[in-house]
Order: sequence, then C-alpha cells, then structure tokens
Amino acid sequence: MSIEKYLASVFSLEGKVILFTGATGGIGREICKGYAQSGADVALADMDATKLAELEREITDAGGKAKSFVLDLTKMDDIKKCVDAVIGAYGRIDVLFNCAGINKREGLLDVSESTYDRIMQINLKGLYFISQEVGKHMRVAKKGSVINMASHNSVGMLGGCSVYGATKSAVTALTRSMAVEWAKFGIRANALAPGHIITPLTTVTWEHPTRSVYLKERIAMGRPGTPEEIVGAAILLASDASSYLSGMMIHIDGGCLAGGAPWDFDTKFD
Ligand SMILES: NC(=O)c1ccc[n+]([C@@H]2O[C@H](COP(=O)([O-])OP(=O)(O)OC[C@H]3O[C@@H](n4cnc5c(N)ncnc54)[C@H](O)[C@@H]3O)[C@@H](O)[C@H]2O)c1
Repeated sequence: MSIEKYLASVFSLEGKVILFTGATGGIGREICKGYAQSGADVALADMDATKLAELEREITDAGGKAKSFVLDLTKMDDIKKCVDAVIGAYGRIDVLFNCAGINKREGLLDVSESTYDRIMQINLKGLYFISQEVGKHMRVAKKGSVINMASHNSVGMLGGCSVYGATKSAVTALTRSMAVEWAKFGIRANALAPGHIITPLTTVTWEHPTRSVYLKERIAMGRPGTPEEIVGAAILLASDASSYLSGMMIHIDGGCLAGGAPWDFDTKFD
C-alpha cells in the first residue's frame, strides 16, 4: 500500500457525520473546512444563519459536504431541536465537536451574576446537555467520538478569566467523565486545549500594547498560533487514527505550558 493510501485510510473522515458547534467562529470555521476536506459530512451549528450560510457555501464550493443548523446553546429546546434535525438529515452523528465558547475579561470582584450565568450556560451547561443528547444516539450506534474545546485556561489561569477558566477546567473534568462512563458504549471523549490563538475572541489581547508582549514571552515559540494550526489534532481525534485515545486533553500551545521563552542566558549558540 502506498504511503498516501495508508495515511488516507487511517486519517480519513469519509462517511463520518460531524456535528460541530461554534462552527462559524475563528477556530471553528477552519476545523470545519479541514473536516470537509478530509471527507466528512459536516453539520455546521451556530447562532447566526447568515454566517452559517456563507460558511456552508464556502465548503460546498470547494467540493466539501456541509449543512447549516441554527443553534443557541443557552436554550434547551434549541439543543434538542438541533440534534433531532441533524439525526433527521443524516440518520446518525459519528463525531460531536463542542467548540462554541465565550469569554468576558473581568476581575473576580467585578463579575456580575448575569455575566457568570451566560459564560457558564454556553461554555458548560450547553456543552453538557448537547453531549447528553448526542450521547443517547451514539450509545444506540455503539460508537462515537466527542471532542470538547478546552483551553490553556483549563490548567493555567490568566487574570480576568475566572469564570471562563472555571468552565474550561470543568470541561476537562467532564471530558474524563464522558470517557469513563461512555467507553462501554464505544464512545471516546477527548479535549483540545489551544494556547493563545489569534481569533475574534482574542484580538483584544493581541492588540493590547503590554499584554501582547507579556504573552509572547510566555510562549516558547514566541508567537500566537493560528486557527489552521488546530486542524491537524482535530482530524486526529475525529478519525480512527485515535481509536485507543480517550479521556485525554491535547495542548496546542507553541510550548507555553512547557515554560515559555527562557530568560536571557549566555550561550555560544544564538
Ligand atoms: N482563541 C483562542 O486563543 C482560544 C484558546 C483556547 C480555547 N479557545 C476556545 O476555542 C473555542 C472557539 O474560540 P474562538 O477563538 O474561535 O472564538 P470565536 O468567538 O471566534 O468563536 C466562538 C463561536 O461560538 C459561537 N457561540 C457563542 N455563543 C453561542 C451560543 N449561545 N450558541 C451557539 N454558539 C455560540 C459564536 O457564535 C462563535 O461562532 C471556544 O470554546 C474558546 O473558548 C480559544
């Protein structure tokens, strides 16, 4: 077998139905395009019908397969309707990618109850119940892969991200619970933890004169990542190449957790 054929057979997403929340976001849209290019049928779920239609067209114009589903994760009714609609359209869901998420940077002493509730509702409660709804179908099918979007903030905190960090730490714990409880149904669950990636969610930080310098020093590779740099790991977790990988979180952070950029020291090498 040629290398191309072997790799294509292991990493191919041909025939897989992927329900993807937060599809039109900075990271989401790149992963959805990568999934479609790898052969998947991508069910694009997000809040804005116009943005969904644009992404769907972009994917189908490039020869990929995608359909749009409007979803507001703060509404339990919407979650059920969206999952029912995807099952109605495809008959099954092989992969659920929970990518939708929000943040608002505020100090612990400033956060209002409404801000707290909104971040919790989208990042944790919505993710929990859409996973439960999809899990019921995967259980019957006796197979499935759930991929949860965690964050560097699942483990390392930044100032002003207390609620966001709490939700992302919880998402990591929840991923392990899914892996443990659902393994007997043939369902795997893993998390991706991007470090600092340039998207609409983070431009506020990267355009800031002092915070952007602070962050670059904490990344060994000295730069933020791009949404395209998340795609490879996302394909790995959705594909059969990761058939024995469950309950894990993969950090994609340019060496941020490893310790960041070292302080100056004498060396004969640059
Ligand atoms: N950008 C980063 O540096 C970074 C780092 C770590 C983790 N993440 C995580 O990656 C994911 C995507 O982040 P991004 O940077 O692309 O952000 P983004 O703001 O570009 O995308 C988030 C998406 O979630 C959708 N969304 C928000 N509320 C929703 C709701 N109620 N119902 C359904 N969809 C909703 C938005 O419409 C948007 O398309 C998030 O979970 C985020 O926490 C991002």
